[in-house]
Amino acid sequence: MNTAVTHEAIDNALSRVKRKAGSNVFKQRLAEHLPTLLNLLRGVYGEERADAHLPALVDTLAEGFFARNDTLRAKDEQRIAHPQWHKSQEMVGMAVYVDLVADDLQGLKAKLPYYADLGITYLHLMPLYKAPEGDSDGGYAVSDYRAMNPSLGTMEDLRDLAAAMDALGMSLVMDFVFNHTSDEHAWAMAAKNGDAMFSDYYYMFNDRVQIDQYERTLREIFPSVRRGSFTQIEDGRWVWTTFNSFQWDLNYSNPEVFRAIVGEMLFLANVGCDVLRLDALAFIWKEMGTTCENQPNAHRLIQAFNSCLRIAAPSVVFKSEAIVHPDEVIQYVSPEECHLSYNPLLMALIWESLATRETRLMTKSLSYRFHAHSHASWVNYARCHDDIGWTFDDRDAAVIGINGYDHRLFLNKFFTGEFDGSFSKGMGFQYNPDNGDCRVCGSLASLAGLERALENGDLHQIWLAEQRILMIHSIILSIGGVPLFYQGDELAMLNDYSFLEDSHKAHDARWVNRPRVTAPALQLAQTQGTVQHRVFNGLRHMINLRKSYDVFGDARSQVYETGNNHVFAYLRAISGGDKVLCLVNFSEYDQWVEPSILEKLSPAKFAKDLISGVTMGTQSHAHVQLKSYQVLWLHTTP
Ligand code: GLC
Ligand code: GLC
Repeated sequence: MNTAVTHEAIDNALSRVKRKAGSNVFKQRLAEHLPTLLNLLRGVYGEERADAHLPALVDTLAEGFFARNDTLRAKDEQRIAHPQWHKSQEMVGMAVYVDLVADDLQGLKAKLPYYADLGITYLHLMPLYKAPEGDSDGGYAVSDYRAMNPSLGTMEDLRDLAAAMDALGMSLVMDFVFNHTSDEHAWAMAAKNGDAMFSDYYYMFNDRVQIDQYERTLREIFPSVRRGSFTQIEDGRWVWTTFNSFQWDLNYSNPEVFRAIVGEMLFLANVGCDVLRLDALAFIWKEMGTTCENQPNAHRLIQAFNSCLRIAAPSVVFKSEAIVHPDEVIQYVSPEECHLSYNPLLMALIWESLATRETRLMTKSLSYRFHAHSHASWVNYARCHDDIGWTFDDRDAAVIGINGYDHRLFLNKFFTGEFDGSFSKGMGFQYNPDNGDCRVCGSLASLAGLERALENGDLHQIWLAEQRILMIHSIILSIGGVPLFYQGDELAMLNDYSFLEDSHKAHDARWVNRPRVTAPALQLAQTQGTVQHRVFNGLRHMINLRKSYDVFGDARSQVYETGNNHVFAYLRAISGGDKVLCLVNFSEYDQWVEPSILEKLSPAKFAKDLISGVTMGTQSHAHVQLKSYQVLWLHTTP
């Protein structure tokens, strides 16, 4: 590498800041991370362009670094010393829309005790930024990264909330929507007005020649909203829009876009967040003739963004939102790239097993796909604000005799309730008539059967739905990683169909699983004798158990065959320490597992099921029995 350029850039930046407190720290971090950063940028932009852009980038990093307050700097040092903080069993997450759970930021601050009391230590606030009126894709079309959506409050309110959360030991997770901006962002407005520099911030085309070539290999993300991936604007030019027409993809082949976005990223980091969720990160690099997803340069750029954080705001980590094939998901998960990652495979397979009552695909896939980098963590979730896509691997399915294409059709039918005998009540999402592709929306409780059971007043079905809801959550709480609850699921909230009456939302079925968490819903969970009360307390019980045993934190996970296709099993173990064998019955009938499964707990002679508190021998010759949808957490100490 050309060290002369590196030193010159460092010296330039430092000569402007040398009298400021903390400049030694900055200099030392630059020395440590700048070579990696420069190499990555050279990999993307070539040596000459990367080197030419370096001084401006270092200025942006310096600006971010020096804008950080003392509290955040102290956190930086603390997290450098304890990089595995996200592995703790104390970590329990929830994702919320501020306006749907509390009206605004001040209201949410007042509601923090509710989350703290439930045990939440990681709170993801869905996009809060200034966005177009009407449809803004739930806030994922950002018009200004440095301004709040005025109906939620001000930047000052957010800083205040961040400080209040920190005092409660709660991490703040914010979205970093860096694949696109809204068409109302100042950059997009300038581009619309013909400004050449800002037109270059996006992918703009004068005609469809190249677009047609690109579209031969692109996947359509929202085909029922608009076909293709491009939008024509008033002056006749076309702009790349992977998602909605008002979400303009940023042009990272322009190094100035990378630098500008680093500036926005550090601004967000300095508000006081702990995790930045990298929205739609798979799409940030376009390469003719490919799907333009998961490209090598996308990885280089994410690593480069990560290096920038290590220099200017090292307490912050990235969470990957790659809802793609599992072979690709795993590529984003490492301390060089994203310390945290959604685990869409586990999510999809939980629902797959729920529909089929068979755990073979989950066992087969996760037995070799669950392992992630030892310094990174999965974020395990069952529902979120988006749809469910069936991202399992077709070869994994083929090995156990399942045809992936047909199986997806079945799953869509099952979860939209079209399949005879289904307990589920969801909605189809983004059906593509060209390839039959479709995804599913719905609240966790409705997909798990509660809505239908309540409509039919069927007490047995209500009870089964309750067991399913608890069982699903038991897995995300114990399998290894950060469990992430979704707003309202702790209250067993059902689908919310009110979006159908809102012209800005009616076309987007994901709103069915974005319910307003109302006072009556909260009240039901406090009312003895309700299913909501039993769910809330059952979840709380499991959250408390998770937090009480380190084996749910930084420990090894291994998925095992049980010999019974309805029962899913995994072992959590600390070397030379505690173990927990988790057994999960995915059927409504009693199931038995061969006693040999308990050998995983040897040499311990007794194990205690943490959930029920019952102790059992591990060397008995009797089969282990699980009642409908029952979960056992069999714990041993050495
Ligand atoms: C992410 C978000 C989703 C949004 C998309 C575009 O996938 O989770 O809600 O539509 O990105 O920003
Ligand atoms: C696709 C994308 C994902 C996005 C989702 C939104 O699954 O891969 O990034 O969140 O669509 O519906």
